[in-house]
Amino acid sequence: MRFRPRNHRDENPEVFTQLVKTNPYVARVYDYPELLIPHPNPENFQQLWDSKKNGCPLPSGKVHLEIGCGSGRYLIEWALENPHDSFIGLELRYKRLVLAAKKMKQQNLQNILLMRERGEFLAEYFQHNSIDCLHINFPDPWSKKARRKHRILSADFLNKMHPFFRSKGELRFKTDHLEYFESVTEILKKLKTYSIVEHTTDLHQSSYNENNILTEFEMLFKSKGNPPIGFLRAVIQ
Ligand SMILES: C[S@@+](CC[C@H](N)C(=O)[O-])C[C@H]1O[C@@H](n2cnc3c(N)ncnc32)[C@H](O)[C@@H]1O
Repeated sequence: MRFRPRNHRDENPEVFTQLVKTNPYVARVYDYPELLIPHPNPENFQQLWDSKKNGCPLPSGKVHLEIGCGSGRYLIEWALENPHDSFIGLELRYKRLVLAAKKMKQQNLQNILLMRERGEFLAEYFQHNSIDCLHINFPDPWSKKARRKHRILSADFLNKMHPFFRSKGELRFKTDHLEYFESVTEILKKLKTYSIVEHTTDLHQSSYNENNILTEFEMLFKSKGNPPIGFLRAVIQ
C-alpha cells in the first residue's frame, strides 16, 4: 500500500516547520476549515458533511467524487452548473488544494468539500450506495510497466468501487495517455458490472466535446499541441 498523507503539524512539528519553509502551502491548507480537510478521518469528514447539510441544505441531488481534482477547475465548473448536487474532491498536492479552496471561497460555493486524501481510501468515508458519479481526469499514468500497479484505475479498484455507486451511478474518465485509456477500456469491457456508454479516443474532435468541461491539465495540453484525449463514461450495472 502506498503512503497515506501524513499529519506533520500534529505528529512532528519540527518537520512541519521545515516543510512550510520550502512550501508555504503546507500551512495554508489550514486556512479553509469550512471547505478543506487537510487530515481527514471518517469523523471530521462526517462532521463537515453534516454541517453543510444542516447549514445550507446540501442538495438532495447527486453526489460526485473527483479523485485527483488538482486546482479544482473541473469540479468547480460542475458544481456551478449543478447547484443541487454535492461534490467531494480528493487531492494530494498542497498548492493545488489551496488554489481550489481559494476559488471556491471567492465563488461562495457551498456544495464542494475538499480532502487531502488518496482515492484508494474512499471506502473509509463513504457507505455503499452513496456515490452517483466518480470523475477521474488525467490520473498519473505510471507509464513504465513495472509501475503500472500504482495506477488508480485497475480491475481491483473498479470492483471495490462498484458497491459504493448508487443505481445509475457512473464513472467519467479522461486521459491523454492512450495506452492507459485502452487498458481501462478493456478492463471495463471484461467486467460485467460496468457498461461503457460513451467512448472516444479524440474527445476534442468528437460530439462529446460540446459539453466537455476542461481541467487544468487539459487546458495545458490544448495550448501545447492539443494531443488526442481519451474520454469514456461507463454506467454501473
Ligand atoms: C496529472 S494531475 C491531473 C489533475 C487534474 N485532474 C487535471 O486534470 O487538471 C493528477 C493529480 O492527481 C493527484 N493524485 C495522484 N494520485 C492520487 C491519489 N491516489 N488520490 C488522489 N489524488 C491523486 C495528483 O496530486 C495530481 O494533482
